[in-house]
Amino acid sequence: MKIAIGSDHAGFSMKQEIINELKAEGHQIIDCGTHSSESVDYPDIAEAVAKKVLEDNIFGVLICGTGIGISIAANKIPGIRAALCHDPYSAALAREHNDANVIAVGSRITGIGITLEMIKTFINSKFQGGRHQRRVEKIDSLEKKCHEGSRASGLY
Ligand code: RB5
Repeated sequence: MKIAIGSDHAGFSMKQEIINELKAEGHQIIDCGTHSSESVDYPDIAEAVAKKVLEDNIFGVLICGTGIGISIAANKIPGIRAALCHDPYSAALAREHNDANVIAVGSRITGIGITLEMIKTFINSKFQGGRHQRRVEKIDSLEKKCHEGSRASGLY
């Protein structure tokens, strides 16, 4: 499987461990940086990974200290459904119910063992469709409404 991955400085060393493990399992990894533990801004990495995810229709993995900033940034990009996960059950449901295309993790929150388990669960789980399809379509239409500058709901 082809997978895009990126982290900020806080997630750099965890990213390298994830890459080694996924490559050993035969996956093709697109490393969108960062490439050292020097400080960088997580929105730049979220953008780079999101671009590859959308261009190639593949899964993405994002890592920052908490997973929060990088998932918030990624979710600003239309077509990205980034799920911040802390356990394998959430990682499975992120695919099965939410059709997430990106998993975000926090290197300062979950250890490498549980993180690898989450990522493997995520990439091997399938969207269930059915009632979940309608809900994901509603997420898409929220994006479209915002893009069209609709003020119908009074919320934005
Ligand atoms: C970097 O110190 C840290 O703020 C970042 O990795 C992330 O946790 C932000 O949400």
